[in-house]
Amino acid sequence: MKNLVLGAGLSFWIAMAAIWIFAAWAPPVTQPATADAAKAEYTAAEVAAHGDAASCWLIINGQVYDVTAYIDEHPANPRTILDYCGKEATRGFDTKDRDRPHSDAAARLLDRLRIGALSGD
Ligand code: HEM
Repeated sequence: MKNLVLGAGLSFWIAMAAIWIFAAWAPPVTQPATADAAKAEYTAAEVAAHGDAASCWLIINGQVYDVTAYIDEHPANPRTILDYCGKEATRGFDTKDRDRPHSDAAARLLDRLRIGALSGD
């Protein structure tokens, strides 16, 4: 009986150690879309070069997003996003230009399109 209790205790701590090692080694669940997105920086001029449907980048809260592939998926008229290509779009995204915020699902979608941050200069 004593051995059984000791064995169960030991197994428990081995399992705990295994979980701890896995958690420490496993990559974080919310990785940026590309590894480079974490460190990439773009100037406002670089973003401005992506100002139409062929390549559409947006600046939202100091982050840069490539939304080109999403324009056709967007539930509203494509114009709503196209007007902001290459530009600061925080207010547009936050209000949908209609005093209404986007859903959390929209924010999560946006997160996946992040390509970097706006650089200071
Ligand atoms: C920056 C300029 C943008 C403007 C002005 C804008 C505006 C709008 C409008 C007018 C609607 C439809 C009406 C409504 O649902 O209330 C809408 C819906 C939606 N938009 Fe945008 N949008 C923009 C950018 C984006 C971006 C970049 C994403 C995602 C990457 C996005 C994701 C969505 C989604 C998922 C919906 C469905 C409703 C919701 O989940 O909130 N939008 N947007």
